[in-house]
Amino acid sequence: MSAKSIVDVSLAQPGLTYSRDLFGHFIEHFHRQIYGGIYEPGSPLSDERGFRLDVIEAMRELKPTVVRWPGGCFVSSYHWVDGVGPERTPHYDKAWRVFDPNTFGTHEFIDWCEAIGAAPFICTNAGTGTAEEMSDWVEYCNLPSGSRWSNLREANGRPDPLGVPFWSIGNENYGDWEIGAKTSEEWAVLVRESAKMMRRVDGSIKLATAARADLDWTLPLLQAAGKYLDLVSIHGYWDKLDTVDEPSPYLTAVGASLGPQEDIQRTADIIGAVGLAGKVGIAFDEWNLRGWHHPWGNDEVSIAARDRNDDNSTYTMADALFSASFLNSCLRRADVVKMANIAPNVNTRGPLFVHPDGIVKRTTFHVMSMYANLLGSKVLDTHANAPELGGAGVPVIDSLATIDESNSRLTLVLVNREPESSTTCEVRIAGHDLDGVFDATVLDGPDKDAYNDIDRPDAVVPRKGKAQFKNGLVELPPHSVSIVEVDLPISYTAGAVVADARVGGWSLSPKGWERRTN
Ligand code: AHR
Repeated sequence: MSAKSIVDVSLAQPGLTYSRDLFGHFIEHFHRQIYGGIYEPGSPLSDERGFRLDVIEAMRELKPTVVRWPGGCFVSSYHWVDGVGPERTPHYDKAWRVFDPNTFGTHEFIDWCEAIGAAPFICTNAGTGTAEEMSDWVEYCNLPSGSRWSNLREANGRPDPLGVPFWSIGNENYGDWEIGAKTSEEWAVLVRESAKMMRRVDGSIKLATAARADLDWTLPLLQAAGKYLDLVSIHGYWDKLDTVDEPSPYLTAVGASLGPQEDIQRTADIIGAVGLAGKVGIAFDEWNLRGWHHPWGNDEVSIAARDRNDDNSTYTMADALFSASFLNSCLRRADVVKMANIAPNVNTRGPLFVHPDGIVKRTTFHVMSMYANLLGSKVLDTHANAPELGGAGVPVIDSLATIDESNSRLTLVLVNREPESSTTCEVRIAGHDLDGVFDATVLDGPDKDAYNDIDRPDAVVPRKGKAQFKNGLVELPPHSVSIVEVDLPISYTAGAVVADARVGGWSLSPKGWERRTN
């Protein structure tokens, strides 16, 4: 019989306020993410601008705060000026080796962000682009009319600045796959000079740049350009489809769940080593369990292989559980992780599959919706002690707890990674066993490989119900993400309570919630 899983939630400290940009998104000019995804002029499901209304409605459910665009690898040979104004020049996209009509450009992106209620995050071309082209784009978007590029914006129908708050210099410029890849020395200089020019146009922008959890790349970058930056971008795909042809099975996929926290720690260590802790944060601005399927060839077979990303049967509870663990990792390190962007949000490996007649919400969509809609605004200290999941090298349980602004509602996230069996877990809050029946939202589905598809869109949907805790013990269904909402009877103020020597604040005993006096 395996050891018991124990989750301890501390109320001794005030919670850590996290950035809601951790629930951010990414969309790229790749395959059917833009064209035939969010943007489909002429479709009966689109508005007069060509935006798919069913997509907008679904996106709004995810309460997106920020969307990164236009790439990805795409951006490293993209010239933004081709995508504004009445005359759009189609171009051959040398990253993905297809034609892009340029009918979706800066204005369309800004309008789409407005439609879904998110802030735009523009990633610039630091592959074939120059510092000047990057800062011209800032000028086009953010400067009041009166300059060459802001006047062009006005001529294109938007007299007022578009107010793009988030910008990034480049994408994965360390990789030999990237157009215009750089050495770390070249990169440090280009970022420093680009950042200077972009900030001279608009000093208020939040600025990120392409980095990685690697000392050789990120140390010289931060030494040279750190004082101009707010964020370093890192990317992660843990089931790499360029080396593994088929998506990995459940245990392998779920077994990758500790990867994100290792990347966060390594990157945070580098930021700290340069003395920029607290000044520069991390934007995990591309993340997904599974890498995108795009063999690097421009023959018909390689291009057609992109359709394999559209196989909905490959988005299962493994993807859902990995995504929950990813978000938990970022939330636990919200002191340093300030943004995270699922890559992408629509089609390819995204939570939302879009086809000509409708949409399918994949398992990951529901996880993102649960997190965006149910969590409180501050993360509490939580510790899980759980046995290892056989053969996967990860604990059976992952957990997180949040508290809301008024300190009166505690939200508990419990991930059970066991594929076939339920797990008994003991939950203690402020050292006391949780007891009672609480509202719970559970995502599990009929089996670990369950998925949603056009003909079975609701095979995996969150179930609203109750979770029963007896002497702290709760039974978690197999392959599940549970979010439990615990109302505290009176709000607690952890900091004040500690100072007042009433250590622990509120505690739960068989008699109910009590203020601790010892
Ligand atoms: O596979 C995803 C693509 O490759 C994105 O364009 C890029 O940024 C990434 O590594």
